[in-house]
Amino acid sequence: MRIRRATMQDLNAVVADHAAFWGERDVRAIHHPLLIHEFGDFALVAQEREEPVAGYLFGMLTPKRVGYIHIVAVRDGHRRDGLARRLYGEFAGIAERSGATALKAFTRPENETSIAFHSALGFAVQEVPNYAWGEMRVVFTRPVA
Ligand SMILES: CC(C)(COP(=O)(O)OP(=O)(O)OC[C@H]1O[C@@H](n2cnc3c(N)ncnc32)[C@H](O)[C@@H]1OP(=O)(O)O)[C@@H](O)C(=O)NCCC(=O)NCCS
Repeated sequence: MRIRRATMQDLNAVVADHAAFWGERDVRAIHHPLLIHEFGDFALVAQEREEPVAGYLFGMLTPKRVGYIHIVAVRDGHRRDGLARRLYGEFAGIAERSGATALKAFTRPENETSIAFHSALGFAVQEVPNYAWGEMRVVFTRPVA
């Protein structure tokens, strides 16, 4: 499975096929084109030649030198094969070369898979009240390397 930079075509394809990544959760609105147009250096897809995109990660580098993972998803059927781990590894390398010292992401408290995944990758897990629209979120932080 090859990991490469994502294009607008990839973004459009994963949005069109979003149920294969997110099930019934409709998260299309957070797949903003600026993730490619402005933060494309931090946008990755995993794809087998000729196959649809199997996984993707869209992130950014913040002014505080945090490599921020905005979205990560792996297609149902490709999970538990280390793909998101590889995407995080690739992103961490890019972020570190760009000056990042830490990585950060967050999720909703009900996303147990995301919490298990980030814990497995060595992220500290913190429940932060009032993180988003008055609601608690689970925030993940880790040194970049
Ligand atoms: C979260 C997600 C990206 C993980 O992708 P993945 O490619 O399956 O993860 P990996 O195979 O790299 O898993 C690495 C480790 O994380 C942990 N992990 C991953 N999925 C897990 C699960 N469902 N239950 C428990 N632990 C899990 C395991 O320790 C795993 O290592 P192991 O398989 O050797 O035990 C994927 O489940 C997904 O796309 N979910 C839907 C979208 C989503 O919720 N994204 C996160 C939003 S914050």
